[in-house]
Amino acid sequence: MEKITAAITGVQGYLPDYILTNEELSKKVDTSDEWITSRTGIKERRIMKDGCTSDMAARAVKGLLEKMNIDPMDIDLIIVATVTADYPFPSTANLVADKAGLKKAWSFDVNAACSGFIYALSTGSQFIETGKYKKVIVVGTDMMSSIIDYTDRATCVIFGDGAGAVLLEPNHEGMGIQDFMLHSDGSGVQYLVQPAGGAAKPASHETVDERLHYVKQEGKQVFKFAVTNMAEVSAQIMERNNLTSEDVDWLVPHQANLRIIDATAQRMGLPNEKVMINIQKYGNTTAGTLPLCLWDYESQLKKGDNIILSAFGGGFTWGAVYLKWAY
Ligand code: UT7
Repeated sequence: MEKITAAITGVQGYLPDYILTNEELSKKVDTSDEWITSRTGIKERRIMKDGCTSDMAARAVKGLLEKMNIDPMDIDLIIVATVTADYPFPSTANLVADKAGLKKAWSFDVNAACSGFIYALSTGSQFIETGKYKKVIVVGTDMMSSIIDYTDRATCVIFGDGAGAVLLEPNHEGMGIQDFMLHSDGSGVQYLVQPAGGAAKPASHETVDERLHYVKQEGKQVFKFAVTNMAEVSAQIMERNNLTSEDVDWLVPHQANLRIIDATAQRMGLPNEKVMINIQKYGNTTAGTLPLCLWDYESQLKKGDNIILSAFGGGFTWGAVYLKWAY
């Protein structure tokens, strides 16, 4: 039987209008444009002021369906990657499906922090490859401003809000997702976590007073793990698929820090022109970074391009996806 591959056939992003610049942050906390730019590469980020995580995702999904002229009723499944769910339950994917009119789709969330999009993409691809489904939407969406402490300079300068959505459809020409390598290591919880609000530490006056509902990150430790693992898994997926640096057309790296991106590209032997970068505009949107890169660079992509997506995030979670662009 002819092999079915799962191909991305469309991409759309959504970014809130409000732009939080390094200048504005410098007035809130003891930081500077110089520090943020030289340590991270970030100049500004977007902040959601008129809704929540599912609203950003629903706007991306609606935009995607309009752009592709697809009836929302034709979608079989939607998977939403996020760590900033609207509620502990129901899932954000449930709410997005309702808001975007996907009345026939079932839905679930994937919680893998900054690796959420590649986890969800790999998962979604399986439903297409089995032949079970024809149209699966995968979204990466995070409203990081809802869990960021704007008095903590070590985290508030890094994160931003945004969402990106892709459509996965069956492909019979060998385009689409070729391979993925995914990893997790729960011992990383000590270095990057939102400590309270879950079963380990339910909300109380104390957790609020101690500011434990915000992201806590030991940046240096996370940096070390991120640099090593993101670069390593990216090189490994190239090796496993016999790809040289000449064969790879694009690296789509998680946008956490320009220095981590540079180290990954270097390990893969890729020049800057082959690396998608938009961290300067949006900061780290967690699950949103990879689809937002694809959206920003969509017009430069060609059918058959060899693309490696690569990410590292809280959990720890990390991994890479190798795909051939389908249009
Ligand atoms: O996406 C999920 C995964 N997350 C990541 O991949 C993030 C990985 N980590 C990083 O990107 C970097 O560690 C950061 C950007 C978070 C921090 O950069 P760094 O070069 O590792 O800085 P550091 O934490 O070692 O701090 C160096 C200094 C410290 O001051 P002292 O102790 O040397 O006096 C910090 O207090 O910089 C200080 N600092 C700041 N100064 C000005 C920390 N944050 C700021 C700030 N503005 N915003």
